[in-house]
Amino acid sequence: MRAKAAPAPTVPAPQDVPRHVAIIMDGNGRWASRRKLPRIAGHKAGADAVRRTVRAAREMGIDCLTLYAFSSENWKRPEQEIADLTALLKHFIQNDLDEFHANNVRLRVIGDYRAFDASAVTMVEEALERTAANTGATLVIALNYGSQNELTRAAQAVARRVEAGELSADAITGETLAAELDTADLPPLDLLIRTSGEQRLSNFLLWQVAYAELYFTDLFWPDFDADALATACTAFAGRQRRYGGL
Ligand code: IPE
Ligand code: IPE
Ligand code: MG
Repeated sequence: MRAKAAPAPTVPAPQDVPRHVAIIMDGNGRWASRRKLPRIAGHKAGADAVRRTVRAAREMGIDCLTLYAFSSENWKRPEQEIADLTALLKHFIQNDLDEFHANNVRLRVIGDYRAFDASAVTMVEEALERTAANTGATLVIALNYGSQNELTRAAQAVARRVEAGELSADAITGETLAAELDTADLPPLDLLIRTSGEQRLSNFLLWQVAYAELYFTDLFWPDFDADALATACTAFAGRQRRYGGL
């Protein structure tokens, strides 16, 4: 008897598509170890999942997709793994940027990408510059990103304005701080997805997640695809967001 194919997930109606989706792309290492492969094989397969997901998000009409690629804590990993991840980042820019650019996708980075090696920094900056005027979807890559560091930098920027006499401490609002975050000009976060079964934020978008919907899946990141994204968006469409009201 043939196994019945799983029903295709319903793609949410355009009005139900979240505007800003962020993903903690986790589980590359476990995906590889299940296959008795080195961790780098998981990261390579993860890069394929990035390509699929960016395409799917654009086709679904998601305006802004933010991907957690490297956290400020990931420097704790072995040097070789960091080198492999940096190489994959460069490879991604080299091979995929043309397609995104042709599709009017604007690339943005959050986090301090300048901590990567000089050639990676140059490539990131060229990619940012090349796509800056694009008006379609926005692809945000979080590189050496940590939310506590982002909030600290924002607090320092606000404090400098107070020191300069531009602003009084009492005049500081949530908007003042939000305007100094790396995400300042991005739409509010609607949906945060984490793969691999972990249910924590790992220092990702702590401020921005305030009223985002959270979605956890057991899929390892290399297994994530258009169907998985559609399933998450369908779940999102079924949520009732109340923002503290009734
Ligand atoms: C996510 O996969 C990729 C990065 C954090 C760069 P992991 O490398 O964390 O995979 P696991 O969690 O060890 O399975
Ligand atoms: C979060 O995954 C960071 C990225 C996906 C880039 P980690 O694998 O680094 O998170 P922890 O260590 O399990 O919290
Ligand atoms: Mg992990």
